[in-house]
Amino acid sequence: MFNTIQLQEILETAIKNLKFPENPKQLYDPITYIINLGGKRIRPLLVLMSTDLFGKDPNDSIHAAMAVEVFHNFTLVHDDIMDNAPLRRGKATVHEKWSTNVAILSGDVMMVEANKNLAKVNAKYLKDVLDTFNATAQGVCEGQQLDMEFEERDDVSIEEYINMIRLKTAILLGGALKLGAIIAEASENDANLIYDFGENIGIAFQLQDDILDVYADPEKFGKQVGGDIIANKKTFLLLKAFELAENENLISLQNLTNETDFNPKEKIEAVKGIYDTLDIQNIAKTTMNTYMNKALALMAQINVSDQAKAKLLELTTQLMARQF
Ligand code: IPE
Ligand code: IPE
Ligand code: MG
Ligand code: MG
Ligand code: MG
Repeated sequence: MFNTIQLQEILETAIKNLKFPENPKQLYDPITYIINLGGKRIRPLLVLMSTDLFGKDPNDSIHAAMAVEVFHNFTLVHDDIMDNAPLRRGKATVHEKWSTNVAILSGDVMMVEANKNLAKVNAKYLKDVLDTFNATAQGVCEGQQLDMEFEERDDVSIEEYINMIRLKTAILLGGALKLGAIIAEASENDANLIYDFGENIGIAFQLQDDILDVYADPEKFGKQVGGDIIANKKTFLLLKAFELAENENLISLQNLTNETDFNPKEKIEAVKGIYDTLDIQNIAKTTMNTYMNKALALMAQINVSDQAKAKLLELTTQLMARQF
């Protein structure tokens, strides 16, 4: 058994050893740029932790872990174009630093690089690994499409929102855990349970991301605070506010989200003010905890010792309290 710090060291070494071609520089420089900006490395850690949970050497799933992290970074590069985001991990986004076209193509080639890492997985598991990876990657695209469509709609339900974040975010956490389980030769039942655990953690994770987008300390967050409000993202917070707002608050919220010509700072402050009167942050946290508890109930059903589960449970608790 490895402790979390050891697993993180394995990951950092593997990330340092990732090699990309050098030319054309504008195609490959953004890859090293975005990956070396860091990030929490949660998804590859989940891959390793899952292999470890089911009693195998986490080094066996290192290539799958790298594939997942490279894929994740690709989705961020394209997500930042779609969300018109200036900042990522405290630095300029790829499309701001280079150009949108560069960000598109570098992102595309990152997907190829992710696949090249997957191809290094032991052939014995490759079919299952590819099926899981592809289903996940396709789901992320579907979620991202819904996320964009929802910006233009004013009748999005909380249920549709949960399904959208399940696709854009949660299934990648589930998929990462399932990849680790496949490589550890976990039973099909356990592999499905760990996937469902990851999905629920992932929904809680995106709820926390939506909360942080409004309430984070800009110094720690590394992304533009208020970006979701500016873009009229149908986050849990906005949908809940629309559900609960009455009279002047409802009218203000409608006006704020309909305005096309606005001062971003003023819009953020005004929407945040309405969230505060309606106690939206706490409601979002309660919903987050509901999904966290669903995840815990699934983990309880997995057929390994409590001791083996401890690391993963500790990580998920930390994630829910994170500040970036
Ligand atoms: C950001 O993911 C994208 C979301 C799904 C919210 P992370 O918060 O894991 O980003 P990094 O990799 O740590 O920067
Ligand atoms: C991210 O959702 C989902 C993916 C990148 C697939 P967000 O758009 O909320 O992520 P951040 O906040 O930019 O990291
Ligand atoms: Mg974004
Ligand atoms: Mg987005
Ligand atoms: Mg976000």
